[in-house]
Amino acid sequence: MSRLLEPVTLGDSIQLRNRICMGAMTRNRCIDDNKPTSANAKYYADRARDGAGLIVAEGTFVYYNGAEWPHAPVMFNHDHAEAWKKVTDAVHDVQGKIFFQPWHPDIRAGRIQNDNMPMLKEHNYPVYAPSKIPATGGKFHSLEGCPGYTTNITEIGDPKFIVEQYKNSVTLAKLAGFDGIELLAQGFLCSRANNRTDAYGGSVENRCRFPLEVLDAIIDVWGPRHVGIKICPSDDLNDSIMSYEELTEVYEYFIPQLVQRKLAYINISRRGCHPEKGQDGSIRPHFRPKGFGLPDHWEPLRQFGNLVKYPGSETMLMVNHEYTVEEAELLVNEGKIDLVTFGRPFIYNPDLIARIAQKKSLAVSDRGKHVNYGPYKTVDEFYNDWPRIST
Ligand SMILES: Cc1cc2nc3c(=O)[nH]c(=O)nc-3n(C[C@H](O)[C@H](O)[C@H](O)COP(=O)(O)O)c2cc1C
Repeated sequence: MSRLLEPVTLGDSIQLRNRICMGAMTRNRCIDDNKPTSANAKYYADRARDGAGLIVAEGTFVYYNGAEWPHAPVMFNHDHAEAWKKVTDAVHDVQGKIFFQPWHPDIRAGRIQNDNMPMLKEHNYPVYAPSKIPATGGKFHSLEGCPGYTTNITEIGDPKFIVEQYKNSVTLAKLAGFDGIELLAQGFLCSRANNRTDAYGGSVENRCRFPLEVLDAIIDVWGPRHVGIKICPSDDLNDSIMSYEELTEVYEYFIPQLVQRKLAYINISRRGCHPEKGQDGSIRPHFRPKGFGLPDHWEPLRQFGNLVKYPGSETMLMVNHEYTVEEAELLVNEGKIDLVTFGRPFIYNPDLIARIAQKKSLAVSDRGKHVNYGPYKTVDEFYNDWPRIST
């Protein structure tokens, strides 16, 4: 049997049926006032029924600020938690495990929000960001003709209120029956987005302060062994790029801070490393600009892997972004990773685990790249209509 398919314990007690995880993917199907519906429950339960080791649910806004994505979920009151409970129940009914990904776009990619998005306008909520620095890139999926940035940015004052938004959201996620949390929080780390002069800007230690405060708030609610984090050192989307020198300095400080906290896992993305790749064009391949080049054949796993995975470390190492089954298998066999995330392959293959177990080829999208988002004609279109091999 492939070592990818062997059961593992995540944290101290989360029994995974295998090492293959479904990555968080925003699919814009929360059409009931930004709450999930039976369509979402079916989508996740189908993938859990087939045996996905761990599912990380789509990024979910911790407050009404996630304006860039229509029909993306929010989680900040009991109604939201009740709606999500139907999803987690459906996943648990078929022995799956599901983590919640709290999302604050102002922190991850605030500068690529737009104040004209209906959700922000309706709730009179500003585009918050670590500093008032407009992005030079980015995209607005739902505001046609708008450039990928706004200049109408409100600098976050004391970020403690955002830490509290996270804490409220992950507390509700517990009520909603999730098995744990995967944090994604990048904005403050990057000097292109953060030129603050207070305790949250300047030195690497200061720039790491905010994500660590959020993490500690999440740990207060969940304990560290139910918490993972996704990091993207080489990311080049949404104007989040760092030079090689900067990313080295930041992540050589940040990762040991994470491991010290005994997190269940660290999920390292290699987005931005391989400009020639791009399975379906949905993640735009483009070359890193001058001054931001990486050493030849560099991958974050090679540089940072041993900061996570070493004898005595209690934190598992997960990787993501354009891995193949063969590559992941090799890395597990070599003891370099514990878990792998697949994203898009889980969209097109509701029976991904069966296909891997039966050594069948994986489906790729033959319906165009727009299928990753939606909804179009119906909520299930391109969402719950991907065939299994047996049908
Ligand atoms: C449609 C789509 C939506 C995504 N939404 C999220 C998200 O909400 N949170 C996140 O951390 N990553 C998100 N990602 C990134 C995926 O989790 C994953 O890292 C990426 O697709 C690379 O893995 P893959 O090459 O196996 O698809 C998204 C990717 C896609 C294609």
